[in-house]
Amino acid sequence: MSTASPSAAPLAPPAGRADETPRRIMVLGAGDLGRRAFHELAHSHRPRDLQLVGRDEDTVVRATNLTRFCAAQRGYTPTVGHALTDLTDVARTAERIAAFRPDILFLAASYQSWWVISTLEQAAFRRLYAANYGPWLPMHLVPVMKAMEAVRFSGVEPLVVNAAYPDAVHPVLHTVGLSPHLGIGNVANNVPGITAAVADELRRPTREVEVRLVAHHYVSHRLSRHGDSGPAEMGLGVRVDGRDVTDELDLPALLARLPERYRRTGGLPGQAMTAASALSVLEPLADGRDALVHAPGTLGATGGHPVALRSGEPRIDLPDGMTAEQAHAINLSGQVQDGITEIRPDGTVVFEPASMAVMTAELGYECAEMKLSDAEDRAREISDRFAAHRTRTTPTP
Ligand SMILES: NC(=O)c1ccc[n+]([C@@H]2O[C@H](COP(=O)([O-])OP(=O)(O)OC[C@H]3O[C@@H](n4cnc5c(N)ncnc54)[C@H](OP(=O)(O)O)[C@@H]3O)[C@@H](O)[C@H]2O)c1
Repeated sequence: MSTASPSAAPLAPPAGRADETPRRIMVLGAGDLGRRAFHELAHSHRPRDLQLVGRDEDTVVRATNLTRFCAAQRGYTPTVGHALTDLTDVARTAERIAAFRPDILFLAASYQSWWVISTLEQAAFRRLYAANYGPWLPMHLVPVMKAMEAVRFSGVEPLVVNAAYPDAVHPVLHTVGLSPHLGIGNVANNVPGITAAVADELRRPTREVEVRLVAHHYVSHRLSRHGDSGPAEMGLGVRVDGRDVTDELDLPALLARLPERYRRTGGLPGQAMTAASALSVLEPLADGRDALVHAPGTLGATGGHPVALRSGEPRIDLPDGMTAEQAHAINLSGQVQDGITEIRPDGTVVFEPASMAVMTAELGYECAEMKLSDAEDRAREISDRFAAHRTRTTPTP
């Protein structure tokens, strides 16, 4: 039976790829999540050639050296290097990719990460939080689109794994053939908690419990805070020792324990969970191991699913008895609650009026529909309006 999060650093090289050529992994985006994933990737006896790429030289050099020295201190000897680019310079990013020729490219760049609004004054944060995540889409979409354009220009064909809102970014970019192969986090971040709740309830070891979850970012975000999927749908299947026990469990009662007995550290320190979810995808891909993981945005799909990684290829692997149409409908219901009514076949995004009304009231930002060609201007506008909002809402000392 497969398990959902095989990410612990091994003490000795495990069985895996017969060929021991170092896997070349580029982490593009040197913020909190990118640096965490880079750091963890270096703590392996597997032959790895790692490169951290960011736009601020001092940050990137310090982070790279920290990772190199920590790995050496613990007896790991990966090749660790760095490079610089600004994603707005697609040609330069393409040169960096062509020079390093990554097998795997992990994108962890964003114009404004999810946690930034939590640094507002508390009342201002709570009001803006009510907009949900969908209206912020341009802040994640544009850097990923730039990175994917650079991949295309580079002539290199790495497997691309992206952290920035893959549930919605990937289906939009899929319409123009620029979707990364798969995402990380979101749906995956709740699987260990659900697995622990089931295992404890049934008094079985967690390794015997296999959870398969279908959920959009909206639901993933809600589950750990409220213990339910709210007005959106979710799909959950549970096997114990290979037997489907879903109907024998009181799932609402188990999920309700997530923000209670199974609560976990949140905010920036809590991004350790996201980094572990990233590693659960990146390590099997790097090591040529097959695995059952969870990921959003697989091959351009909307929302999150269980995903089988077989010979380096991702394939959505749904809970027992669920059809692809049912999974898609579940994820669309989450997408709407997140504030995105529709992603049209030409990549135009239609936003939910209720979510956008919050953005308009708080930031003065209004966007009923966004063509892909307008996304960059929209990202710039949100950035400017958010900066002005912070100034307005920050109490003077
Ligand atoms: N899927 C999940 O479960 C999950 C969980 C957590 C976070 N995330 C997402 O992952 C992404 C990264 O999150 P984070 O918390 O690590 O954010 P972060 O700390 O703000 O890092 C974002 C990075 O993007 C870089 N960046 C921005 N514009 C750039 C440009 N033009 N060229 C090059 N780099 C640029 C920033 O560079 P500077 O430092 O130079 O500004 C920063 O290093 C976000 O989209 C976030 O929402 C996803």
